[in-house]
Amino acid sequence: MQDLQDILVSDVERGVLTITLNRPDAFNALRNQLLKEMAEVLDDAAANDEIKAVLVTGGEKVFAAGADIKEMASLDAVGVMNDIRPTYWKRIANFPKPLIAAVNGYALGGGCELVMHCDIVIAGDNAQFGQPEINLGIIPGAGGTQRLIKAVGKSMAMQMVLSGAFITAEQARDFGLISEVVIPERTIERAREIANTIAKKPPIAVRLAKEVLLKAFDTTLDSGLNLERKAFTLLAATEDRNEGIAAFTEKRKPNFKGK
Ligand code: CAA
Repeated sequence: MQDLQDILVSDVERGVLTITLNRPDAFNALRNQLLKEMAEVLDDAAANDEIKAVLVTGGEKVFAAGADIKEMASLDAVGVMNDIRPTYWKRIANFPKPLIAAVNGYALGGGCELVMHCDIVIAGDNAQFGQPEINLGIIPGAGGTQRLIKAVGKSMAMQMVLSGAFITAEQARDFGLISEVVIPERTIERAREIANTIAKKPPIAVRLAKEVLLKAFDTTLDSGLNLERKAFTLLAATEDRNEGIAAFTEKRKPNFKGK
C-alpha cells in the first residue's frame, strides 16, 4: 500500500483496526485521496483474517464535513460523470466485515453518507448530522438520498435534504440513524468496546448476518427471508456452529476459529 496522507491506520488490536480521518485543517473533508486510501485499507482489511471489525473515526472534534468542496469545484458535468469517487464508495459499501463509526462533531454531506455506510454508529452528544448540499446547489451524491430516507423516514429525510438543516445526536438516535449517544470523551472508547465484542464472535456468522441484514434495504421480504434461510443453512456446515453449541452445552466459553 502507498504511504497514507489523509488517514491514520492503527495496528490491529484484539481483532479491531482503527481508521482515523486525518485532515484536521479541512474538517476531514473527504477528498478523492482520502476515499481512495479508505477503499484500499478496507480491501486489505477484508482479506486479513486477523481483522474482525473496523472502527472509523474523525477523532475528538469532527467526523467529516463532507466532500471536499474545493476539489469538487474544479469538476464540470463531464468531470463529475467520469469521477472515480463512486467506485471508492462502492468498495467501502462492499466491505464485508462490521464497520463501526465513532462520531464527534460535524458529520455533514459525504460525512453523513460515510456514517450511513457504517453498520453501527456511536456519537458524542456534540455530534451534528446533516446533508447541506442544497446550499451548494447540489444534492447528496454518495447515497444520501436513498440511505437517509431508509434510516430516518420520509419526513425527516426531506427536511434534512431540502432545508439543509442539521440534526443533533439525540435526534439522530431517536430517528434510527445511529444507535447510541455518549459524552464525546467516550465515543471512540464505546465504539471500540462494541467492535471488540463483535471481534470475539464467530466471523462467518458475523459476515453473513451483515450481508443478510443489509439485503433488507433493497429486496422484498420474501427474497430477504430466502437469503436468510440460505445463510442460516450454510452456517450449519461451519465448525464454529458446532463449537458454539458444544460450548453452550459444556458450559464453557466458545473458541471460534472462522471455519
Ligand atoms: N470541503 C473543503 N473544505 C472544508 C469543508 C469541505 N466540505 N468543510 C470545511 N472546510 C474547511 C474550510 O474551508 C476551512 O478551511 P480554511 O480555514 O482553509 O478556510 C476549515 O475547513 C474550517 O471551516 P470553517 O472555517 O467553515 O469552520 P466553521 O466552524 O465556521 O464551520 C462547517 C464548520 C459548518 C462544517 C462549515 O465549514 C461548512 O459548512 N462546511 C461545508 C459543509 C458542506 O456543505 N458539506 C457538504 C459538501 S458537498 C458533499 O458532501 C457532496 C456529497 O454528497 C458527496
